[in-house]
Amino acid sequence: MYRYDAYDHALVQQRVDQFRDQTQRFLAGELPDEEFRALRLRNGLYIQRFAPMLRVSVPYGLLSSPQLRTLGHIARRYDKGYGHFSTRQNIQYNWPKLEEVPDILAELAKVEMHAIQTSGNCIRNITTDHLAGVAADEIVDSRPYCELTRQWATFHPEFNWLPRKFKIAFASSTGDRAATLVHDIGAHIVRNEAGELGYTIYVGGGLGRTPIIGQKLCDFLPEVDLLSYFEAILRVYNLWGRRDNIYKARIKILVKERGVAAFREAVEAEWNAGLRGGDLTLTRDAIDRFKRHFDAHPYRADAANDDSFTAAQATDTAFAAFCKRNVHAHRAPGYKVVFISLKPQGVAPGDISADQLDVVADLAERYSFGEARSTHDQNLVLAEVAQGDVYAVWQTLKQHGLATPNIGLLTDMICCPGLDFCSLANASSISVADDIYARFDALDDQYDIGELKLKMSGCMNGCGHHSVGHIGILGVDKKGEEWYQLTLGGSAENDATLGDRTGPSVARTEVAEAVERIIQTYLDQREGEDETFLECYRRIGMKPFKQQIYA
Ligand code: HEM
Ligand code: SF4
Repeated sequence: MYRYDAYDHALVQQRVDQFRDQTQRFLAGELPDEEFRALRLRNGLYIQRFAPMLRVSVPYGLLSSPQLRTLGHIARRYDKGYGHFSTRQNIQYNWPKLEEVPDILAELAKVEMHAIQTSGNCIRNITTDHLAGVAADEIVDSRPYCELTRQWATFHPEFNWLPRKFKIAFASSTGDRAATLVHDIGAHIVRNEAGELGYTIYVGGGLGRTPIIGQKLCDFLPEVDLLSYFEAILRVYNLWGRRDNIYKARIKILVKERGVAAFREAVEAEWNAGLRGGDLTLTRDAIDRFKRHFDAHPYRADAANDDSFTAAQATDTAFAAFCKRNVHAHRAPGYKVVFISLKPQGVAPGDISADQLDVVADLAERYSFGEARSTHDQNLVLAEVAQGDVYAVWQTLKQHGLATPNIGLLTDMICCPGLDFCSLANASSISVADDIYARFDALDDQYDIGELKLKMSGCMNGCGHHSVGHIGILGVDKKGEEWYQLTLGGSAENDATLGDRTGPSVARTEVAEAVERIIQTYLDQREGEDETFLECYRRIGMKPFKQQIYA
């Protein structure tokens, strides 16, 4: 993985010192609220319902064992013993004390981590496929390109005060596992007909109160032009983006209002006026230098000869169930990708305790070359486990509540903090997730239902991605009461689509029942077990679902 050099260390340490000074001045009443707000928002610190919320950056979701241990230590020492993985591969702490945040940042700096640019109107954490480097359908490992982009974006003087926040995601496989089409920029690494590497660039996607699917800006951008082209996009956005109205300030509104053709024209003009072929053009040397940080690990040549993996599944049905859902193929012979579910019943989706963070750190060290990854749907992954070790990994995970075999199933839902923590919420989401979980906790039923993405947000800001859920649930406020708007048929993958509203919102107590009726309709209507929920919805449309929900 990328390791900090002396400059990185100095930059991050300097930021810690600055923030310590700013926090002390704020607490001493020397810095007004408004001024401190802008400063804390450059360091991932929000002020929430009950406490500050600190968002720590996890570049492209990659974490080393020492980093995981530090995250556990912070949860234990400075928070209430847990952290929360977000949909952009970051981790958030919900209960830090403002006066201790500089100490937390100092702890993070020791393991090459920070909270810089995880909030505020700047370029946020660069995200990608959690299977980068190990996926069989991959064109090339996206992480070197993410790291190049991260370095360009960090402290970029021109883009530190954008009209609004800016999110970039990379995909580099035939399957989009990073929700790139709901990002401000989605970059798909591709090869053209001549076999040359480059990018298809999408722009103007986003969730929130105006969810929009990204549009294609550039069909094939040559590999070396990545940063100069990004620079052109950001310049046009910075110049044209609206600053008078926060709800119209994202690039998605700009692209929508002006049209993608006009936006493209402006970007190309900016690009051709000195950026193209200029200093930001990547050299072969630079690309190779970044690639070397992500070289393949030294896999055991005989890993595929170990057949204990298959034998254990034949004798242990619980292990077999885990393998079916949570163990995926790896590119290297004899290796597997093991998903750690952060969605057991009774726990807010994405939450992880300090002890569990330590367990994952130990497992990563022992079995996965010292690395783990966070996924955009709020789980973790040990991406490089020899098949002969999977049984031992599973046993430890099971012992610590990390082995729920539900990856990709109904209870593997994305859910925002909602009314429990967030000051913007209209409605609870975690307790509704609990209700739904309770109805469908029988795993056999979930296996029968198959692949299903349920996504829930406590307000229209859409942190829980409800607009792109196969089933989406959005909390709305009706005269002080919590109601829920349902949508069906959304997707955040290659076929990205916004869900359709089912009709009037339903009361808090009726949500789980409505979900059950939706599922029952699917089970009644599907053409065989192979037809997924989404395929079935696309075939039969809303009507049969609506009839059942509101019957
Ligand atoms: C509790 C504190 C939180 C607050 C105050 C908060 C606030 C917001 C706001 C205001 C937006 C809308 C921004 C816009 O469209 O311009 C937003 C969007 C978003 N938030 Fe949060 N959020 C919080 C927690 C989370 C969590 C826990 C997650 C991940 C699970 C998350 C992930 C996202 C994502 C993915 C968006 C998508 C909208 C987009 O950028 O297109 N947020 N958040
Ligand atoms: S969707 Fe709304 S309620 Fe949920 S975390 Fe985001 S801002 Fe808060």
